[in-house]
Amino acid sequence: MNTAAVLTGLGTYVPPRVVTNEELSRTMDTSDEWIRTRTGIAQRHWADTGTATSDLAVEAGARALKSAGSADVDLVVLATTTPDHPCPATAPQVASRLGLRTVAAYDVAAVCSGFVYALACAAGAIAAGVAERVLVIGAETYSTILNPDDRTTSVIFGDGAGAVVLRAGDPSEPGALLAHDLGSDGSLKDLIMVPGGGSRQPVTGAAEPGPRPADSYFGMQGKPVFRHAVTRMAESSQAVLDRAGWAAQSVDWFVGHQANVRILHAVADQLGMDKERTVVNLDRVGNTSAASIPLALADAVSDGLLAPGHRVLLSAFGGGVTWGSTALVWPDITTDRDISPKTPRSS
Ligand code: COA
Repeated sequence: MNTAAVLTGLGTYVPPRVVTNEELSRTMDTSDEWIRTRTGIAQRHWADTGTATSDLAVEAGARALKSAGSADVDLVVLATTTPDHPCPATAPQVASRLGLRTVAAYDVAAVCSGFVYALACAAGAIAAGVAERVLVIGAETYSTILNPDDRTTSVIFGDGAGAVVLRAGDPSEPGALLAHDLGSDGSLKDLIMVPGGGSRQPVTGAAEPGPRPADSYFGMQGKPVFRHAVTRMAESSQAVLDRAGWAAQSVDWFVGHQANVRILHAVADQLGMDKERTVVNLDRVGNTSAASIPLALADAVSDGLLAPGHRVLLSAFGGGVTWGSTALVWPDITTDRDISPKTPRSS
């Protein structure tokens, strides 16, 4: 029998500062009504200035290790679009701060698909015997790359981190990742991009305080992204359902990347699933990119939706463009509120 990666711990962290739609509408030409009806988002959390992605990742990672009942891991895979620095990767620092000494650690860059990509990387490492136990983290501080003058992106994204622990086990165990599907189409790279700061367009090095160059901000072409997200998430979800041998109607919870509630419902529609089976927490946290799926899982558990034995379908779409999906049966793990605090709603 093949070795499977089995989910055995879950922890999350969001920075305390809640930013409501109403607050954003005071500084940009938008409204609570527009944001809610076009995206489903009511609020998001933004980190305070000076807080970096590793700070959120360490908090979520520590909670996931506590949830797993052991800090014994031999690999850390961190998915992020907003690393602390362009070089080196953020994962080694997170591993070190978690007291994991000299374990292997690297970052995965697949934008909003990052967490699903990282799960597949970790499962591959376990299957190959490279690692026995892996800490997989999705962590983002999008507030550091949002253009405050761009209402089409600023209202959508939030900061946060979520982490799981995977261990080597048997495919028949609850928690085993049963199937993966990953894909990309780099011909669409311009749809979601931070143009400046890489080898194509190095930073010019303005050390003086002042306005940031426009090319250092995140940009997105919302309409085509919406369309491709629905198509690719539906196709990729169907691929893992086929590999797992599950009918779409037998899935208890569709936990898709929390980009837009209309995207999630359109994907459910295309799969022939009941919309009520879609986990939605983007109203509370916005689009947290690589962190969104573990944050949605934790909220689904604390909301009393997701329970041991449930069939769960994960699917994401992101810049690159990239997409990916995973299927698992939810395990009986400890995710009490000390470990995975329920994301607070604003009044
Ligand atoms: N507040 C108010 N109005 C806004 C606005 C905002 N925050 N952002 C855009 N608008 C305006 C536009 O300027 C446009 O005005 P116009 O008709 O006068 O030109 C109008 O609203 C419609 O804009 P449009 O871009 O067509 O809206 P949309 O229905 O496509 O919704 C998104 C925009 C971004 C919410 C939607 O395209 C989307 O969710 N895309 C996917 C984004 C995503 O999930 N990305 C991450 C995936 S990994």
